Amino acid sequence: MSTKKELLWQSRFNEPFDREALLFSSSVEVDKALYQEDIKGSIAHVSMLSEEAIIPVEEARLIIEGLEEIEQEISSGALVPEWEEEDIHTVIENRLKEKIGPIAGKMHSGRSRNDQVATDTRLFLKARINELRDALNSLNSLLLEKAETYRHTVIFGYTHLQRAQPISAGHYYLAYFNMFKRDGERLQDLFRRVDVSPLGAAAFAGSTLPLNAKRSMELLDFGELFQNSIDAVSDRDIIIEFISACSIIMMHLSRFCEDLILWSSSEFNYLEISDAFSTGSSIMPQKKNADIAELVRGKTGRVYGDLMNILTIMKGIPLSYNRDMQEDKPPLFDASRSTISSVKIFSKMLAHTKLNEERLAKLTGEDLSLATEIAEYLVKKNLPFREAHRITGKIVSHAVASETTLPNIPLETYRTFSDLFDDDLFDALKPEASVNAKRTHGSASFASVDQQIKAAKSELR
Ligand code: ARG
Repeated sequence: MSTKKELLWQSRFNEPFDREALLFSSSVEVDKALYQEDIKGSIAHVSMLSEEAIIPVEEARLIIEGLEEIEQEISSGALVPEWEEEDIHTVIENRLKEKIGPIAGKMHSGRSRNDQVATDTRLFLKARINELRDALNSLNSLLLEKAETYRHTVIFGYTHLQRAQPISAGHYYLAYFNMFKRDGERLQDLFRRVDVSPLGAAAFAGSTLPLNAKRSMELLDFGELFQNSIDAVSDRDIIIEFISACSIIMMHLSRFCEDLILWSSSEFNYLEISDAFSTGSSIMPQKKNADIAELVRGKTGRVYGDLMNILTIMKGIPLSYNRDMQEDKPPLFDASRSTISSVKIFSKMLAHTKLNEERLAKLTGEDLSLATEIAEYLVKKNLPFREAHRITGKIVSHAVASETTLPNIPLETYRTFSDLFDDDLFDALKPEASVNAKRTHGSASFASVDQQIKAAKSELR
């Protein structure tokens, strides 16, 4: 059975393309998402062609008007791209032919679908990078707010998921602020490499027509022009870089999600996620689950998969364009959709969380995590740290055996471990005092957190 409309390359063949082979190779279902970028690219190309007198001005006008109408038709749903037409480029060209006749064919002078799709992809990527950077900026504004709200709240800092030392909760939020800040910088840096126009490379070797690729670049608002026409159509490293930046963002988010999931469980009960971002169980009425955080954590796997996907597609493909590269779009679209929606919903959920300050105050006041304070107390009394650590270990073991807490052990008992202990030890054994006593750069102390907040504020601006 033959296809409804002629494929762009059909004339060289005596037999129609097999329908199943066409279904297998059609990218319309995926690349129809690029129709706006495709039309934008075509309008720029045709404008350049008419400026360079490669096609008449009047014909260019007809083509451009037709393309603008087609954009409306697709966005309103009046024109539904069909898979039989191979790809979105062909859908648009066929429709233009229906509207204005054979002049439509001039749109493709000096252009191949190879530089066309590379252009579409770069336009798409630039928009997604900006969208993702905006989402990260909003998340970081929120983290800064959280850091300010909770800068004097003491929480446990963990290593090995064991209570380690008390810290300002602000310090915790600011740790993520820094990670997402670097994620934003990675995208900003990548943007420069994406912002390069490949239009004018044609199939891979350029054209005999006097194209003005620099003009097309300007019309599409690209910052730079390709240097080598093979490279322009053959590489997809920017997609790999983008998805790898997405993977790092998702990795950061998934760790944050893990903390929120743990902290909102009854065992921890450090934090409450509001009802609007929690789900229930269909069988266990008491349950309140952190599904949104779990889904973001789960989508991290998808995005890692997208990265492996595109890396594997590109591995070992000979230069220049090969049809394998059409498979770049599913991972690109999936990774950008998953990452942008994850950052956005995560931010919204985080805004609907609050720390259980009362419980945290009670727990941090009673905990053995003040042991480092004892060791450093002894160091300040001139004991070598190793010896101080050994003595403190004994004290902790005593506290555990007698089921008491460090601030509740009497001074006489402390003195049986070392006569360096004095009354002032108990000042150091308050969680706030412990946090406050940190002296070093970028530490968990309240003063350091205040400083970090100040610096972060000026960076966000
Ligand atoms: N759908 C193709 C892609 O995304 C467009 C380029 C087709 N080029 C070709 N020579 N068959 O890669």
